[in-house]
Amino acid sequence: MAVIEFRALTKKFGQNAAVNNLTAEVEQGRITGFFGPNGAGKSTALRCVLGLASPTSGEALIDGVHYREIKDPLRKVGAVLDSGGFNHGMTGRTSLKIVAATAGIKDARIEEVLDLVELTQAADRRTKGYSLGMKQRLSLAVALLGDPEIFVLDEPSNGLDPIGIAWLRGFLRKLADEGRSILVSSHQLAEMQHTVDDVMIINYGKLIAEGPIADVAKGRSLEEAFLQLVMPK
Ligand SMILES: Nc1ncnc2c1ncn2[C@@H]1O[C@H](COP(=O)(O)OP(=O)(O)OP(=O)(O)O)[C@@H](O)[C@H]1O
Ligand SMILES: [Mg+2]
Repeated sequence: MAVIEFRALTKKFGQNAAVNNLTAEVEQGRITGFFGPNGAGKSTALRCVLGLASPTSGEALIDGVHYREIKDPLRKVGAVLDSGGFNHGMTGRTSLKIVAATAGIKDARIEEVLDLVELTQAADRRTKGYSLGMKQRLSLAVALLGDPEIFVLDEPSNGLDPIGIAWLRGFLRKLADEGRSILVSSHQLAEMQHTVDDVMIINYGKLIAEGPIADVAKGRSLEEAFLQLVMPK
């Protein structure tokens, strides 16, 4: 079953088609890796899924509806975007409390998610003093607050140390094993090879490969397959 659907999604900025007629699906209970060179259109496509950018044509759907039609979005979709953020004087715990309050989520869940992302010890520090990796963990904590069934993650391993990256891999796998669905962008192909079930690769906004990782890699490493797809001889 498809939980996220891109249907002929096009997003133009002026004459530039950041996403160009993208049709693809993310299956339930699987980790789908979303890959492409810098500027390929990954973040733009993910922002369309989350209702943060409006398509020029086509659509991006979650369980068959637009993000803005979802009644309780935090409980349906958890998102990590690459936009930075958390550069303010509030603590990690307060940041979570504010989001939780908007969705009627109990305080006990804040402690749970802090524990899940291993940020409990730093929870009372101001986020502007957080390292990049700590900010990423806090973003993940926000995404987890509503215990959602779908995750849209834009470069969630950005800034994580090798221990954090290995932890994230296990963490995503556990979420998928629970039947949750994950669409995750990354440039860390060697790492993602061991993390994802399915692959979507775009270049200049266009889909150039899609499917189970073994079908796309065809015996090559994910990195080799990627390079040959985006830089054909
Ligand atoms: N708000 C915007 N206004 C104008 N152009 C934009 C805007 N957002 C993105 N673009 C352009 O759209 C294209 C796709 O950008 P996008 O950020 O989606 O790529 P990406 O695949 O996420 O790249 P990266 O791997 O570097 O994160 C780029 O050419 C970018 O300059
Ligand atoms: Mg991006």
